[in-house]
Amino acid sequence: MTTPTDPPLLDIRNLSVRLGEGAASPALIENINLRIRAGETVGLVGESGSGKTTLGMSLMRLLPPLLDRGLSGQIHYDGDDIVQMDRAELTRLRGGEISMILQDPMASLNPIFTIGNQLKEGLRLHATASGSLEDRAIAALESVRIPSPEARLQNHPHQMSGGMRQRVVGAISLTRAPRLLVADEPTTSLDVTIQYQFLELLKDLQKRAGMAMLFITHDFGVVAKMCDRVAVMYAGQIVEEGPVREIFRRPRHWYTRALLDSVPTLDQALDRLPTIPGSPPSVANRPQGCRFHPRCANAQAKCMQMPPMAELAPAHDVRCWFPLQEQRGAA
Ligand SMILES: Nc1ncnc2c1ncn2[C@@H]1O[C@H](COP(=O)(O)OP(=O)(O)O)[C@@H](O)[C@H]1O
Ligand code: SF4
Ligand SMILES: [Mg+2]
Repeated sequence: MTTPTDPPLLDIRNLSVRLGEGAASPALIENINLRIRAGETVGLVGESGSGKTTLGMSLMRLLPPLLDRGLSGQIHYDGDDIVQMDRAELTRLRGGEISMILQDPMASLNPIFTIGNQLKEGLRLHATASGSLEDRAIAALESVRIPSPEARLQNHPHQMSGGMRQRVVGAISLTRAPRLLVADEPTTSLDVTIQYQFLELLKDLQKRAGMAMLFITHDFGVVAKMCDRVAVMYAGQIVEEGPVREIFRRPRHWYTRALLDSVPTLDQALDRLPTIPGSPPSVANRPQGCRFHPRCANAQAKCMQMPPMAELAPAHDVRCWFPLQEQRGAA
């Protein structure tokens, strides 16, 4: 059991990713500060294009070379700075410490090899465990509740359903016994029932392994189910961060509230889903001042200056000159 006073496993400080070196290059993400403790799940939400994947990829230094060169700030992981790591240290990090599950399971699987081959490849790196590779591969598939695991080892990825494939990706990620799992919209490509089952599974495995997790999603329903804390991203910045229950009950940033208000309820007709008016700015056209001001119902002259991140309640930070006062749903 961890307590809030434990040092965080991951401590991101002032992290930016620019389109090339130099402070004048446009930033995909800018001055990100975020901490994740062992065993904790932190959600990262925001509309498409807000920089969530860029942040996730930078934690494993998997950005394209141009963007990797534009990385600045620090990513302290268990005392070491990932931004400063050399190739050998990064290989060790990716091989065992941090794992990633992507939206499209096919992007993580090799179509040429069987599921068994791909699982065993991962397991071979962990010589510490006992038992034959075959037995351990079967156990890995059982751990993600794949029926008839012996037979499944012979399958190629295309012989499985999307939900099954994502479970296999989960099993492969977990063979590395990561201490941090980055899940980037892992259920977006799955249908609703399968989505739910996969989330349950992930949560269960996380609990058993005591893993920390960064859970990237655009879906607040998924955040409510999976996360302890949540960071809301807009146009490359974190605009609000706090405990999930607190953010749901009492969002303080206008963007967070707009996002929450656009979550469909059961009685809404599917053809009339509410959305936030306007669209997020592209990297090259980010507005001056508060980046949300062109879409904010409360924008005022002061909003033409960039608001700082401020702590409004314990562990609840918001980047807004005029944070919301009332509880959500209150008259
Ligand atoms: N390799 C790249 N070169 C230039 N711009 C990029 C690159 N990758 C992503 N972007 C831009 O960076 C922004 C953030 O993208 P991304 O991190 O994928 O957001 P999200 O995951 O929240 O949808 C988007 O506007 C996207 O167009
Ligand atoms: S700073 Fe101004 S424009 Fe930005 S969210 Fe707050 S009220 Fe709206
Ligand atoms: Mg993304």
